Amino acid sequence: MPTDHPRIRTTEEYQYAYRRSVENPEQFWADVAEPFTWRRKWDTVLTADLVEGHNKWYEGAKLNITENCLDRHLSTRGNKLALIWEPNDPKTRQIRYTYRELHQEVCRFANVLHNNGVEKGDRVCLYMPMIPQLAIAVLACARIGAVHSVIFAGFSANAIADRVNDAQATVVITADGLERGAKQIPVKRVVDEALEHCPSVRGVIVVEHLGWPVHMKDGRDVWYHDEVQEVEKTCPAEEMDAEDPLFILYTSGSTGKPKGVVHTTAGYMVWADYTFRNVFQVEENDVYWCSADIGWVTGHTYLLYGPLLSGATTLMFEGVPTYPSPGRYWEVIDKHGVNVFYTSPTAIRSLMAHDINHVLAYSLDSLRVLGSVGEPINEEAWHWYHTHIGKGRCPIVDTWWQTETGGIMISALANITPSVPARAGLPLPGVQPVLLNQEGQEIEGNDVEGYLAIKAPWPGIIRTTYGDHERAKQTYFGVYSGYYFTGDGARREADGLYRIQGRVDDVINVSGHRFGTAEIENAINQNNTVVESAVVGYPHDVKGQGIYAYVICRDGACDDDISRKHVEASIIETIVAEIGRIAKPDKIQFVEGLPKTRSGKIMRRILRKVAEGDTSNLGDITTLLDPEIVEKIVEGRK
Ligand code: WTA
Repeated sequence: MPTDHPRIRTTEEYQYAYRRSVENPEQFWADVAEPFTWRRKWDTVLTADLVEGHNKWYEGAKLNITENCLDRHLSTRGNKLALIWEPNDPKTRQIRYTYRELHQEVCRFANVLHNNGVEKGDRVCLYMPMIPQLAIAVLACARIGAVHSVIFAGFSANAIADRVNDAQATVVITADGLERGAKQIPVKRVVDEALEHCPSVRGVIVVEHLGWPVHMKDGRDVWYHDEVQEVEKTCPAEEMDAEDPLFILYTSGSTGKPKGVVHTTAGYMVWADYTFRNVFQVEENDVYWCSADIGWVTGHTYLLYGPLLSGATTLMFEGVPTYPSPGRYWEVIDKHGVNVFYTSPTAIRSLMAHDINHVLAYSLDSLRVLGSVGEPINEEAWHWYHTHIGKGRCPIVDTWWQTETGGIMISALANITPSVPARAGLPLPGVQPVLLNQEGQEIEGNDVEGYLAIKAPWPGIIRTTYGDHERAKQTYFGVYSGYYFTGDGARREADGLYRIQGRVDDVINVSGHRFGTAEIENAINQNNTVVESAVVGYPHDVKGQGIYAYVICRDGACDDDISRKHVEASIIETIVAEIGRIAKPDKIQFVEGLPKTRSGKIMRRILRKVAEGDTSNLGDITTLLDPEIVEKIVEGRK
């Protein structure tokens, strides 16, 4: 994009930038940050601490990220489209906002937040459909310095309550209802249920979207359309410190409840913009589409902040890939002339399964760059995407990153660095990946594999887990002291490109959504008939990983098929209530016992093998408390 921000255009420029970012990170990141709008420049570029996890970027600087997303573009791009919204139902109206209009809408929403008592530093939770007001509300929070925490509108009331309470949010923003494909969710009702257990919440702002009747609680709930009547169209941006928190996003780890990953203002901004600009190589007149929901980090960084910081036109889609037909994505691409398209392997795999005529009905001529994110993309899906969607001419950027990294870490830069099937590729400038062995020593050379860790801070690095820094320290910095630990395994291939092999901890990645096995087990164990459970992931054709649950029932509760069916349904109900529909197990197997060591530890390795159907070589089971249980589990396999 021809702007004041230079971007990498050749392999040599990539190599040069990479070298500089390693040799002199402070100078490198000072140069990258220079063209943004700062109220005050920084005193120190970087304070690095990969032992305690107290990493800081651009300390002393003052800014507001929305001035960089919006105000900064008004003089040159005021009439350029900032946001295109495509509704769930293709027959209803699309909505478009220029940068000037989006600026105004954000200011108005910010004023409504102010009028409802939201102040700098307050936490605001959002539980919303994928409608423009979600994007606007997120930016409105940032405008006034409130910390946004978006909760994917598929989580249950209990899951919302956990997050709202952890964040001690004072205000929740929601809508009357949500439609996702043919599904409907009464989001306001779910919020009402959650808020029965959330004493910190003083107000609820409700956006009217579908015209559904909702209950408005006196003294707590207000309609957005009423509130916005009286407010000004401008709203001065709050001056924020570089390290003031921008948002909290809850994500699952291998233990306990989901944790609130905290990102701060300046470093996240620079990282979102730098990675977006260089990976996707979006041109000034392009339409860019990231199909992720704003409820996940991909939606934060690459639907909203990255594109707007770069002055791009970003498309937001309310629906799902298969509604009203499996040609919907391709229809949207032709309709809006999408040039750069970023989606998930799960979406690709689910669409591959349908008649190819759903693709052939569209030209897809506008496409130039394709992206993939959230989980490993298998070779078959890569080739299908490359051949049928990219028509062999579009590079695929397979972007590896995490909620905790804020933005893309390892990926091809479109048309610049190598794009090879099933390999994420090379690290971005500023990212120093290493592969560690069990002892935490770096494995040198190529054609090797190990635990993926990062040995220097980058601007988008997680700052803390909300309200509990010790947890962040232990999870990310304490595993191998002096490194950020990713939880992923990886190979460095003979050509030096990275291949991500998946999680090495107890996290399952289902359709690109992260769940901790412990989190799902805790939910299952809430069910009265359950004595104990163990959850593992297993390879799933469409979702990448499926959820396989082994469950021990109370005596007599699951003795025949009918009672087993009944208990199964009730377990699913419990999970839906505790976490949400997205965490529903694909298979539930009732077992008499679990394979445990003499010290009582569940041998998940065995359970994983059984779930995979690979029972020929279960390894050494002699150390088990009750080796016979394994045979019974194998026999009962689903
Ligand atoms: C996985 C999503 C392989 C990985 C941005 C990581 C990937 C987790 C890729 C983070 C990829 C993400 N190839 N695996 N291109 N991208 N992952 O926090 O296991 O929702 O640790 O962030 O997804 O998931 P999260």
